[in-house]
Amino acid sequence: MDIIIFFLILSATLVIVTNVLAIYWFGAMLIPAFAGGAPYVPTRPEIMERMFELAQISQNDIVVDLGSGDGRLVIASAQAGAKQSIGYEIHPGLVRLSTWKIRRAGFENSAIIKNQSMWNADLTHADLIFLYQIPYAMGRIKRLLERDLRPGSRIVSHAFKIPGWEPDEVHGNVLLYKIKDRA
Ligand SMILES: C[S@@+](CC[C@H](N)C(=O)[O-])C[C@H]1O[C@@H](n2cnc3c(N)ncnc32)[C@H](O)[C@@H]1O
Repeated sequence: MDIIIFFLILSATLVIVTNVLAIYWFGAMLIPAFAGGAPYVPTRPEIMERMFELAQISQNDIVVDLGSGDGRLVIASAQAGAKQSIGYEIHPGLVRLSTWKIRRAGFENSAIIKNQSMWNADLTHADLIFLYQIPYAMGRIKRLLERDLRPGSRIVSHAFKIPGWEPDEVHGNVLLYKIKDRA
């Protein structure tokens, strides 16, 4: 009898865990799609290396990752010495995970994840923007960058071009853009 109850509890636990994981996984796909951005696909370490080579982070930089996923670019920016690094992320599970990773890495004073849509981001103080989005979002992102960024600010985009802009440098599938003087 005891063994039957044990297996019943085990099966129920497995069903619950599988359902939670499925909801998390489909949420990671669906929430960003409804929010007009890319689903969660993390940047691979070798691509991150390229992104940071082009970014040349300095200790005065305020860095923003639009759609920060598990926070890997935000944490790596803090590790590279950025004054502040900020991630905007729409998926609450990824916000929780990345916030935990920031605390574990000891960067809670210089890195933060905002559970907020990137479409409401204030980029007026940003010196460097990281992007790994999706083609249909790039036009809207461009308008955000044009509205807020100051001359000299940099954008490092993984995989996708900003429509109508010429990149200043291209390294494989990573593009660097610099905001020019409006004069
Ligand atoms: C391709 S992933 C990139 C993750 C991370 N930047 C990286 O390079 O590893 C895109 C991320 O953008 C997030 N996202 C999509 N739409 C968003 C929105 N409107 N506001 C904030 N985050 C969004 C997704 O949840 C996902 O985590």
